[in-house]
Amino acid sequence: MKNPAALKLAALASVAVFSAFTAFAQDVEDPFADAVETRHGLMLQMATDLGVLGAIAKGEIAYDATAASKAAANVAAIASVLSMAQFPAGSENGTSADSFALPDLWAKQDDFLAKIVDLNNAADAMKTAAATDGDAIKASMAQLGGACSACHKAYRQPES
Ligand code: HEC
Repeated sequence: MKNPAALKLAALASVAVFSAFTAFAQDVEDPFADAVETRHGLMLQMATDLGVLGAIAKGEIAYDATAASKAAANVAAIASVLSMAQFPAGSENGTSADSFALPDLWAKQDDFLAKIVDLNNAADAMKTAAATDGDAIKASMAQLGGACSACHKAYRQPES
């Protein structure tokens, strides 16, 4: 290839191939990226809904049966989705990029699953409270918030 334009093209092509390869190599290095992203999305949506319920409990926003019931139903729906499927073995903090899940989650898997059951029960109780009034939501917050923090305390690496 004596033609400089052709040389340049060839160089560009090899850069493109190299970038495609590195993108592929990154995917191969972290096979858990999708699972980590999925669980983060589920957790963040629960945090958003818990925020609505918390604001009602604190009287920061007025009790609204429709908004409260929607938030409680969202948490219950997400709780019912949570399982080991979003927590494949090997996707712990330090191994999988962006993961804050602690290795104990897999070592004590039965307890982790029991904490998912606790979350489902708390979310069901919150659904009843959400259809009642602000005081009922306030009374139900400890159980629901407690279900979140009990699991985080045991199985989530605190962000430093
Ligand atoms: C059964 C265990 C468990 C329960 C219950 C639980 N979480 Fe989590 N949560 C985790 C774990 C583990 C992580 C860390 C996941 C990771 O980084 O890969 C996490 C991470 C999070 C994050 C950070 C997400 C991010 O993008 O880094 C938020 C926000 C969160 N949880 C909110 C909640 C809320 C709100 C509740 C209750 C309504 C809740 N969680 C209940 C286990 C749980």
